[in-house]
Amino acid sequence: MSEYKFLIKASEIKKGIPKQIKLETKKITVYFNGEKYFVFDSHCPHARADLTKADYSDKEVKCHWHGYRFDLESGKGIGNNFKLKLYEVKIENGDILVKEKEEEKQGGLFFPEVKFKGEDNDK
Ligand code: FES
Repeated sequence: MSEYKFLIKASEIKKGIPKQIKLETKKITVYFNGEKYFVFDSHCPHARADLTKADYSDKEVKCHWHGYRFDLESGKGIGNNFKLKLYEVKIENGDILVKEKEEEKQGGLFFPEVKFKGEDNDK
């Protein structure tokens, strides 16, 4: 999805209420904080909880399953190494248009380095 595609009319998105929309084969969520529309993958990058049921504040989402938090501007985990997949958003004539971010096409999920007890990967 390298070109902007129509997602939904902005008037259908209510402030503070996330909405899940199916775009092609993907389920994505739109959240409007009263100033800006954020569009991201509906699945939490930790264990795929449905983020339409998460808790939202101004520019942050907190997953309802294990409490992981994500910055809606950058997608970066707050206090964790996971990353939320974000979309670029454009508003035209009252329509919300989206496209995949270039860096997101590389792979989406970020898996932190895992070391097991007794294992030293540096030697
Ligand atoms: S599934 Fe979202 S924090 Fe675990």
